[in-house]
Amino acid sequence: MSLLDEATRIAREFDYPAEQVQRGVAEYIRQSNEGLAKENTTLSQIPTFVTAVPNGTEKGLYLAVDLGGTNFRVCSVQLHGDTTFSLTQSKIMIPRELMASGTSKDLFLFLARQIEAFLRIHHNEHFEAHLRRRRDGNREEDLFDLGFTFSFPVRQIGINSGTLIRWTKGFNIPDAVGHDVCALLQSAIDDLELPVRVAALVNDTVGTLMARSYTSPGETGTFLGAIFGTGTNGAYVEKIDKITKLQHMKDVHYDKSTGEMIINAEWGSFDNHLSVLPSTVYDRDLDAESNNPGIQMFEKRVSGMFLGEILRRALLAMHNNPMLGLFKPNQTSKVSLPSDSLFYRQWGLDTSLLSQVEADTTKDYVDVKAALKNHLKIENPSNDECEAVKILVHAIGKRAARLSAVPLAAILIDNNKLATDDVVDIGVDGSLVEFYPNFEGYVRDALREVPEVGPAGEKKVRIGISKDGSGVGAALIALVASKDETLRNP
Ligand code: GLC
Repeated sequence: MSLLDEATRIAREFDYPAEQVQRGVAEYIRQSNEGLAKENTTLSQIPTFVTAVPNGTEKGLYLAVDLGGTNFRVCSVQLHGDTTFSLTQSKIMIPRELMASGTSKDLFLFLARQIEAFLRIHHNEHFEAHLRRRRDGNREEDLFDLGFTFSFPVRQIGINSGTLIRWTKGFNIPDAVGHDVCALLQSAIDDLELPVRVAALVNDTVGTLMARSYTSPGETGTFLGAIFGTGTNGAYVEKIDKITKLQHMKDVHYDKSTGEMIINAEWGSFDNHLSVLPSTVYDRDLDAESNNPGIQMFEKRVSGMFLGEILRRALLAMHNNPMLGLFKPNQTSKVSLPSDSLFYRQWGLDTSLLSQVEADTTKDYVDVKAALKNHLKIENPSNDECEAVKILVHAIGKRAARLSAVPLAAILIDNNKLATDDVVDIGVDGSLVEFYPNFEGYVRDALREVPEVGPAGEKKVRIGISKDGSGVGAALIALVASKDETLRNP
């Protein structure tokens, strides 16, 4: 058995042919419609109560915070009203113990302290003026409106309130589940007496959609926002009439005049019962040993947090196979893999390694070798070992991109978006679309293979990176919420 033959054999397990893409699309359409009609479905299809997209003329100064990955971001956003904005931000790594073992009080107090530090550095005058007014007994004046980008599934009941359904992406603080995350943040902010009102709850995909629509407004605005990063998910503009489960939700307030509402699909949990998703032994083992088995099954095949781990498991199988001995020194090879290498650690392999490997076009694997050394302390790998890594990376990355086409095609088809000659605008963000070479190209290949999209439909789809979506988008939603008191739940 040769190393390259075996790598090629494993790579084939990651093939995701046209016919499977098509089955995926049909099933996505079915599950998404079920999610619009009922609660507690695989695809959550969460109503966001945001009923219009911006057109670039919005103005004002807003605060935004973003919790959703490994960093917590605090920013202030000045919307200039001419499709441009300026943004000041700070980024703080979230201590691991707060992500996965502390209490929600610890976590939200940590977040509020970061907001305080940010205000002290960047808006101290405003802060001091507020404190003076407060001392004079004037409490409600001059609060910053804050958009809270919280990129986890929440059951939203208004533009500024929603209860956490479940944690994803490695977070696990059980006592927060079922609680209103805006209220938790507001109460930590109030404990520190900060001049801040949590005005809007925002998923990062919704922020991406809003930001894209503000910065590149077209005739029809942006239709869909998607994240392909640590996690994956999308939000799109749906007809209110089709969201039939809204009729059963009590005490919800929203502006019905546009007839539309942004839906946060939470597509990371598409097909959790695996009726159409491809599954290799590496996918199954990854899931079984994750902290949420059986959940976020689509995300576990597509997004950055998981692709590195899928690759690590495939490489480890070749390492442990005595016939192959990948990364094991022998008479001809001086490869070294120290025992403290992240290669041996669950989640040890960062997805940026995949992007670096895929990008290597050198004959002698210069970038692959650098990536293996920097990420995993693997030195002196042979060219065959590097080629084996490349083969697997390519297969795993390409499957992720082709899978990503499934929700996109399904949502475009189900909303009849390709019926006219109009361009359909999609805003995207996340490390995979941004850094994995040709990610969009593979998505487009798969889109064309869906008969109801085809080459003509695929051409109408305009995909643009929407940077800072979670900041600008959150500011835009805070603006909508602060302008319209009726949107706020008490
Ligand atoms: C996870 C979260 C979702 C978020 C996505 C991208 O899937 O559940 O809310 O939008 O990651 O960050």
